[in-house]
Amino acid sequence: MLPVSLTLDPAFRVGPVRRRTFGSFVEHLGRCVYTGIHDPGHPTADEDGFRGDVIDLTRELGISTVRYPGGNFVSGYRWEDGIGPRADRPTRLDLAWHSSDPNLVGVDEFMRWSTKAGTEPMMAVNLGTRGVQEALDLLEYCNVRGGTRLSDLRRANGAVDPHDVRMWCLGNEMDGPWQIGHKTAHEYGRLAAETARAMRMIDPELELVACGSSGRHMPTFGEWERIVLGEAYEHVDYISAHAYYWEEDGDLGSFLASAVDMDQFVESVTATADAVRSAKRASKRIHISFDEWNVWYQQRAESKPPTGHDWPVAPVLLEDRYNVADAVVVGNLLISLLRHTDRVHSASLAQLVNVIAPIMTEPGGRSWRQTTFHPFAQASEHAVGDVLQVAIDAPTYETAKFGEVPVVDAVATWDAETGAVALFAVNRSLTETVELSVDVRSLPGLGRVVAATSLANPDHTWAATVDDATSVLPRHNSTAALVDGRLTAQVPPVSWNVVRLGS
Ligand code: AHR
Repeated sequence: MLPVSLTLDPAFRVGPVRRRTFGSFVEHLGRCVYTGIHDPGHPTADEDGFRGDVIDLTRELGISTVRYPGGNFVSGYRWEDGIGPRADRPTRLDLAWHSSDPNLVGVDEFMRWSTKAGTEPMMAVNLGTRGVQEALDLLEYCNVRGGTRLSDLRRANGAVDPHDVRMWCLGNEMDGPWQIGHKTAHEYGRLAAETARAMRMIDPELELVACGSSGRHMPTFGEWERIVLGEAYEHVDYISAHAYYWEEDGDLGSFLASAVDMDQFVESVTATADAVRSAKRASKRIHISFDEWNVWYQQRAESKPPTGHDWPVAPVLLEDRYNVADAVVVGNLLISLLRHTDRVHSASLAQLVNVIAPIMTEPGGRSWRQTTFHPFAQASEHAVGDVLQVAIDAPTYETAKFGEVPVVDAVATWDAETGAVALFAVNRSLTETVELSVDVRSLPGLGRVVAATSLANPDHTWAATVDDATSVLPRHNSTAALVDGRLTAQVPPVSWNVVRLGS
């Protein structure tokens, strides 16, 4: 048993828990939209063709914002194709995913789905094949009350009230050579600045996200952020970060430490944004929208798009099946996002359904929760109030990718009004149970363990399937006890743990 000491203290406050940390992403990709959120023949489908079971799971997952419609898809997307009578909508080639899109779901349907799912829509505009004018057109269609051609068109299409979308992404991954309309940092920075400036002429209060890097491994990482913000600093609120390069490739120890990499990613982008701020003598700060993140096994066959003359509608793409270790890493990545709540103001788990997703569906059939569903749902439900940095005194282990890392990582939240505390912790040891000893004496009024759960399995490769999604779930951890301001709990190897304390 490895002893690990943690200390929680209200003085370690980082900032508020932000609901937008618990966002997700719906792209026209594979079966995310078609047979994912939309499946008119499904027994639970509503009058719009949306699956009721998926809406229920989205609510259970505790999703706040949902980014739409891409992703790489957006860089070739003509939003006008997806409005008006469905019979008149064209089927188009989706070059990003070598698929066809019948445009049965478009902006108005997505907004209706968002309302039903209780989520906030976050739109991306196409700055790949398109530019300032088309972004303005979409904004007019979505947000102007009426009395103009496009706002009246929306009203004629059944949406009398404006969609009032607050958060807008200025393109997607424009640093990536795979992106349709890929640009240099200077080209993109100018376009982002001019698009943002014009969009604010319609609505100065919009929250605008400039594209940051598609990953910390990109050769332009750092310089990209510096140049883009150099051009667009005054006009945007956020710089995006995307990261998917965490996967178990035979080195489980490094994989379990993936959050170290996310920490460094966030801290590097923050430093770059603040350097631009200093150079410009600006007072405002740019925050991070970590609007694509997840474990993704990119080399697996299901991540390869079709080729040649095959342009299917809703092919099986990126349908990763997640195991227990993947769930522990997803939990740890959430710990990292929460720990940086002072600078990460929004984040999107990519994606929501079927495509590298916590929710899976059979076309016309059953739906189920992947292992990664559980840490997300628990963190979204129980992270309330303020985020507290946790002081960790733990043994370390050596990793090939990230050097020496502590065996435990943790973050806590504290609701000053109710006194409720939630501790989120992972045990990254492959073999050892950890004995947590948590000093909570500085937090007032704590009298009991409200609930304690651990997600783990002797076989960390266990993955949920449509036939068995419940053999491994977060289970009650009966070892948790609170005595004289000290919480103790034993947490198993390769585990995600939540302990809630109250009066
Ligand atoms: O989420 C899958 C893809 O990953 C997105 O379309 C793209 O933005 C990223 O590269």
